Amino acid sequence: MNVYDSGRMGDVLAHHGYSLTDDAGDADMVILNTCHIREKAAEKLYSELGRYRILKDARKAAGKTTLIAVAGCVAQAEGAEIMARAPVVDIVLGPQTYHRLPELIARAERSGASGGVLDIEFPPESKFDHLPDAATTSSAAFLTIQEGCDKFCTFCVVPYTRGAEYSRPIADIVAEARLLTAGGAAEITLLGQNVNAYREADTGAGLAPLIRALAEIDGLARLRYMTSHPIDMDDDLIAAHGDVDALMPFLHLPVQSGSDAVLARMNRRHRIDDYRRVIDRLIAARNDLKLSSDFIVGFPGESDKDFEATLELATDIGFIQAYSFKYSPRPGTPAAAMTEQVPEAVKSERLAALQDVLSASQRAFNAACDGRVMAVLFDRAGRKDGQLVGRSPYMQPVHAMAPEGLMGRIADILITETNVNSLGGEIAVAADGNHISPRRISA
Ligand code: 5AD
Ligand code: SF4
Repeated sequence: MNVYDSGRMGDVLAHHGYSLTDDAGDADMVILNTCHIREKAAEKLYSELGRYRILKDARKAAGKTTLIAVAGCVAQAEGAEIMARAPVVDIVLGPQTYHRLPELIARAERSGASGGVLDIEFPPESKFDHLPDAATTSSAAFLTIQEGCDKFCTFCVVPYTRGAEYSRPIADIVAEARLLTAGGAAEITLLGQNVNAYREADTGAGLAPLIRALAEIDGLARLRYMTSHPIDMDDDLIAAHGDVDALMPFLHLPVQSGSDAVLARMNRRHRIDDYRRVIDRLIAARNDLKLSSDFIVGFPGESDKDFEATLELATDIGFIQAYSFKYSPRPGTPAAAMTEQVPEAVKSERLAALQDVLSASQRAFNAACDGRVMAVLFDRAGRKDGQLVGRSPYMQPVHAMAPEGLMGRIADILITETNVNSLGGEIAVAADGNHISPRRISA
């Protein structure tokens, strides 16, 4: 979502004379868009600010001014502290106020060196009603449909930093999707911290009707959504996986732990059996559907037995991709105050053991793709001359020698090389000269 938010900040500023640069030394303004989910992510901010202080000083010596802004969830959670700790920062703004950037810039310019401008409100207005149209050149685009979270998992900062759940109206989302598609997007990933809790305020419509509306858009070949909570996988959404062709057969469904006791202390509101049942129903709806997940090891009170249950679940489900993290206590969350914190060494050991299991199933799935024809949406140039890189329906990066004209388009690729993290292949053409249909092969 930070990628999407950064793009939208760019859209706002494009209307005020700014354009993007890859060269920070050339930037009149630098915005650091931050993540607060784990301590490691949050810490990055201060080391980056050290670098930008040097840059700002160097530009000042050359007679140029540089505005430094910190945006995102670290800004939301630690705004005043950032101001106090890093005087180099001119503007601190939370994730819900970036539509106000032009006004904040004007205020920062007026106040000059006399302290920064802080805006970490949860404003009454929705930023989405005040943002200019999204501009994109990306063939695989993001689109935020929902923000915030009311679930309050005991380890998580999101309900505090992103605020309460808010869902955008379907008409606005469809309009933005049409714009993205007209701008070249063949794939859209619908974003939300709790995306499948999506509910249109006026109609009560959930994610499935929204997906069905989006699937009607000409030129929009692929839809994905993330991140979902297992308890919000309703019947209609599961059915949509079976009957909406554009919905890719790959779902990110975080489970966090394989132990009921840990899930209860995490306030995840479901048991492992419920999770397994949701997966069975998804696969019954679409038999080629595969899953990825998030795991936290070393949550307070996690015993060896709890952790073994996580290993067992990971082995059983065979996730084709997964993110796993050591539990990171976050200030102000209930789990940070739990007494039975797990020692760092145990967390590291468990993380390594879990990652062994997870990477084995990822490798196994990639290996099983050998010889298959997969539909690949090419979205960037490869390292070699004449090579393009794209994504399979399962988000695997696939590289192939392909004409530049295929950039931004979907082609059938015969997989001839499989690695841990990527696949390689060649354009698949049947004996009759026609492209082989990937749907026919994978069915
Ligand atoms: N410690 C470790 N991992 C966390 N996540 C969220 N909060 C924490 C935390 N305090 C992980 C969860 C979530 C993903 C986005 O980040 O697995 O699904
Ligand atoms: Fe955080 Fe997701 Fe739980 Fe919400 S549902 S509190 S975003 S982990």
